[in-house]
Amino acid sequence: MKAQYLVILGTGGTIAGKADNAGDNIGYTAAQVGVEQLLHAVPGLSECGPFITEQVAQLDSKDMSFAVWAQLAARVNHFLARPDVQGIVITHGTDTLEETAYFLQAVCRPSKPVVLTCAMRPATALAPDGPQNLLDAVAVACHPGARGVVAVCAGTIHSAFDVQKVHPYRLDAFSSGDAGPVGFIEEGRLKLSRNWPEWPIAQAERAQLAIESIANWQDWPRVEIVMSYAGASAAIVEALVVQGVRGLVAATTGNGTLHHALQKGLLQAQAGGVKVVRASRCINGRILPLPGDALADSGGLSPVKARVALMLALLAEADAART
Ligand code: SIN
Repeated sequence: MKAQYLVILGTGGTIAGKADNAGDNIGYTAAQVGVEQLLHAVPGLSECGPFITEQVAQLDSKDMSFAVWAQLAARVNHFLARPDVQGIVITHGTDTLEETAYFLQAVCRPSKPVVLTCAMRPATALAPDGPQNLLDAVAVACHPGARGVVAVCAGTIHSAFDVQKVHPYRLDAFSSGDAGPVGFIEEGRLKLSRNWPEWPIAQAERAQLAIESIANWQDWPRVEIVMSYAGASAAIVEALVVQGVRGLVAATTGNGTLHHALQKGLLQAQAGGVKVVRASRCINGRILPLPGDALADSGGLSPVKARVALMLALLAEADAART
């Protein structure tokens, strides 16, 4: 039988970070070490190969851009289409990992595993977490039946839909909220708690339209997030509308509620043609819609993921209008 390759794509992050002294877990520069070197730092990993490695980007993920996303999606699609590729692992910063995971799931919808992994400590740390996370991610990418975009951190597998960074320092920095993790990796073995995630049909259909157009788009539709809080007003919404914003995600209080002044501004924006979606700012749960809601809700997506979904929907719409 022909060898099945595992593809490792590097994009930067703390997993590739360097500090001047090994005791420093926070004063480091992210995205310094190449993906090849990261692989060599993991004892025993070479036995899991053969590998194909590629440095798609080298950045601190707080600076993630649409251009890098488009390039990453193109490389992921390229390798997914190869019959000799078993799965893909992507090394990524933790800060926007959940956005990239959602984006890739939405536009690539892989039937093979695409596993994002990361680290909370730089590669130069006394006890870096990156090598173990990388080893675990490879175990997931090799697992028979694994599919879809997932994130692996601290021995836990999270789905792209549910994963959220919930801690700025601890090694176990991610949560899947109410849904719970897909499973765990224990000494290279997977213990699954639920099925590999299915993608909600409506989301998949929306994204399907966008994939062909992504590479061709220079200007992505501008979608911003506005938050509801005590004393909120419509001022930011009004300023954004003047600037030509195309979509707004309202990070709402509780079950989709908004400060009345902000709500008025959002309804006006919507009446003027801006797409508005509500996503709860609560870390767990989802908005339970009420009959006659004037503003749509995100269907359980967090505000940052609802923003990605709205951008893709607008891209699809613009694309349809062009053809
Ligand atoms: C980043 O997101 O690139 C830096 C922070 C991290 O990876 O933990």
